[in-house]
Amino acid sequence: MTKQTVNIAIVGTGVIGAGWAAHFLARGFAVTATDPADGAESRLRDWIDNCWPVVERLGLADGASRDNLTFTPDVHAAVRHADFIQESGPERLDIKHSLIASIEAGARADAIIASSSSGLAISEIQAGARHPERIVLGHPFNPSHIIPLVEVGGGNLTSPENIARTMAFYASTGKKVIRINKEVKGHIANRLQVALWQEAISLVQRGVASVADIDAAISYGPGLRWALLGPFLNLHASGGPGGITLLLQHLGPAQREWARDLGTYPETDDYIESIAQGVDAELQSYDFPEMLHQRDQLLIQLLEAKRTLSQLP
Ligand SMILES: NC(=O)c1ccc[n+]([C@@H]2O[C@H](COP(=O)([O-])OP(=O)(O)OC[C@H]3O[C@@H](n4cnc5c(N)ncnc54)[C@H](O)[C@@H]3O)[C@@H](O)[C@H]2O)c1
Repeated sequence: MTKQTVNIAIVGTGVIGAGWAAHFLARGFAVTATDPADGAESRLRDWIDNCWPVVERLGLADGASRDNLTFTPDVHAAVRHADFIQESGPERLDIKHSLIASIEAGARADAIIASSSSGLAISEIQAGARHPERIVLGHPFNPSHIIPLVEVGGGNLTSPENIARTMAFYASTGKKVIRINKEVKGHIANRLQVALWQEAISLVQRGVASVADIDAAISYGPGLRWALLGPFLNLHASGGPGGITLLLQHLGPAQREWARDLGTYPETDDYIESIAQGVDAELQSYDFPEMLHQRDQLLIQLLEAKRTLSQLP
């Protein structure tokens, strides 16, 4: 699929669909979006206007323009000429099934349907579809017009060719694409995050440290490196000349012991109040909206800087 020939349809223009629309417009594609909610079109256009300075700063492709956005409340019309359909409707299996049925009723049989679903398996979503082989996972990260990662995978009935087509297409739009080889709940990046949240909550509950200090332990510690190299390369770098093999041999016994002591995810909601109180205390001397603004500015600077360095993966 080349840019000149690819028409994009965005089905569902909430938080994630709007981000996808901005991303594809910035990469120079013609985008047709659909959403049945009242006021969806004006919300989408306002949202894209607001984020346009950011996508401009990240770099527009030739011909990129907000004018390349068409909106229709009619899903059949939205997907009729689409080569690539990004489904970002509500996260409920019954709604995904009815959405897929509506999309298939209007779309070409060979158009890719990529679902943004965070938690549902593609095998479940594609059950009952007319052409399940073209239904793939294309899971982004919020804000999806800024964060490069997309997790791609298939269900039992997705064809390997369509997974490969999807990966190549996202990569051609500047996304960092990873392949999920086997369906698991929560895909990959969110599972890694849950492992960390599980232990962070447990440390607060055990009285080991405050919410603010646990946040600082990541944001002033390993989190600074994680945006540059992932967990395995960082371990390899820590291992000196012996690399990760020596390091794992060396640290293995201690890490096994720490791992046996890790907390489990709370089974009830009792823990929420103490975590929320800790967050309130942490935010006392900050303006939270301004904090998020500064975070996003720094995130953009980081992405710009990473692009100039050829030896960062
Ligand atoms: N929010 C996140 O951080 C995040 C991150 C990655 C993936 N996702 C996934 O993206 C998908 C969308 O999530 P969201 O956070 O944007 O939800 P959202 O509630 O903000 O948006 C869903 C949109 O779908 C629209 N919709 C409802 N019925 C529809 C229909 N029949 N046709 C077209 N649109 C319809 C709604 O009007 C709404 O605008 C979910 O599957 C979610 O799991 C969310």
